[in-house]
Amino acid sequence: MGVKPLIGIRVKLYSKGSGKWVESGGESAKFGLTTTEILECIKIIAEYNMLDQLQLLHFHIGSQITEIRRIQKAVKEAARVYAKIKVKHINIKYFNIGGGLGLDYDGSKTSSDASANYSIQEYANNVVYSLKEVCDEENVSHPIILSESGRAISAYHSVLVINIKGSKNGNLNRQVELRGNEPHIIKELYDGSKEINIKNYEEYYHDALLHREELLSLFNLGELELEDKSEGEILFWQICEKAAAFAKETQNKSDDFEDLNKLLSKKYIGNFSVFQSVPDFWAIKQLFPVVPISRANEKPTQYGTIVDITCDSDGEIDKFVDLKDVKEVLELHELNNGSYYLAVLMIGAYQDTIGDYHNLFGAANEAHIIIDDSGEWHIKQIVNGDRICDVLGYVKYNNSYLLEAFESEVNQALRENGLSKADADDILNNYKNVMNRYTYLDL
Ligand SMILES: Cc1ncc(COP(=O)(O)O)c(C=O)c1O
Repeated sequence: MGVKPLIGIRVKLYSKGSGKWVESGGESAKFGLTTTEILECIKIIAEYNMLDQLQLLHFHIGSQITEIRRIQKAVKEAARVYAKIKVKHINIKYFNIGGGLGLDYDGSKTSSDASANYSIQEYANNVVYSLKEVCDEENVSHPIILSESGRAISAYHSVLVINIKGSKNGNLNRQVELRGNEPHIIKELYDGSKEINIKNYEEYYHDALLHREELLSLFNLGELELEDKSEGEILFWQICEKAAAFAKETQNKSDDFEDLNKLLSKKYIGNFSVFQSVPDFWAIKQLFPVVPISRANEKPTQYGTIVDITCDSDGEIDKFVDLKDVKEVLELHELNNGSYYLAVLMIGAYQDTIGDYHNLFGAANEAHIIIDDSGEWHIKQIVNGDRICDVLGYVKYNNSYLLEAFESEVNQALRENGLSKADADDILNNYKNVMNRYTYLDL
């Protein structure tokens, strides 16, 4: 068509990134040309008399690179390729360093998968310095640097706000009183629950674990009634709660008591779908910061995980960032009658587009917020999430056909089963209303 294209080459480097996306780089990477392929490519371009069009060298060694030295190594290797092309009197002038600039999701500033051990400034310094050093050694002019970091630019732009609708598990707050004729095992657990204190709590907790085993064995042998089992369990959980409180007071970080926190944690039921809004948590176990945004001036006293409203047991956020450690429970507030909101932060990169319609939960409602020149924030736009009929359409149900089929069933009931006209109208209106509702619980 008479157009001379501008040409850029992506090089496959030996240098790899680090972290979850390490396999995007290195010899077995999906993209990029090897040295032999680059030479072949240059030969073909020369045959077409288009060497002047070869203007850019590109590499990308993966997302969320956690270690600065990996970036240095990759830049040096690519810079050498760039310079060696340039000394062939080819007028290449752009050096594209790809993406991969890592973010500090867990706040640790380390090379853990959810962090990066460098700042943006350090990243920029390293790229410029390493590239300059190689170009100067090879005596070629310095290129224009392009970067295409996506995650680092977009992650902060989006926050998921989760409305907590309730919680489950945890203590039922029942008291057990001795009757005098209860089985021995109940008496043991009762005494344990009364006598546990800050000095003996480790031993009493271990005893309680054994007593619970015994309780189950006795029940399975038919020696206990349902009421006995229930009382034994209530007493067991009371001992656990007291032991956990003493462990916290004495800053006991042993595995036993970390596990106990998980055991005692509540499941907070959030009006969201992990698969739609934070799919990478499910798909690749990527960690995101999660924080309560209600009751910020009250100390959280309950451990919890966050379950979504899908019917999939994977729909649960149960790993949390805590500097370098990964925690299986989050400190949350005990629910009262007021509303309670949590926020999942830094979800602006990749989550929207990877999110799916598992269990037919659609896009969530969105508020687009801008900050004006004086620092004030404003809601610029509200975008309603998907309705039930929208999502049914995505999976190829024809909504008018569904309505017709439903209407014909209602009419048949009207004719043959004595359904009144008023009830038939009600049923149909209800159907139409439901189809237009949000796929999540209405607020
Ligand atoms: C070629 C290329 N450039 C840039 C990016 C953006 O990467 P990141 O979001 O990690 O900065 C990607 C992502 O996979 C990519 O494939």
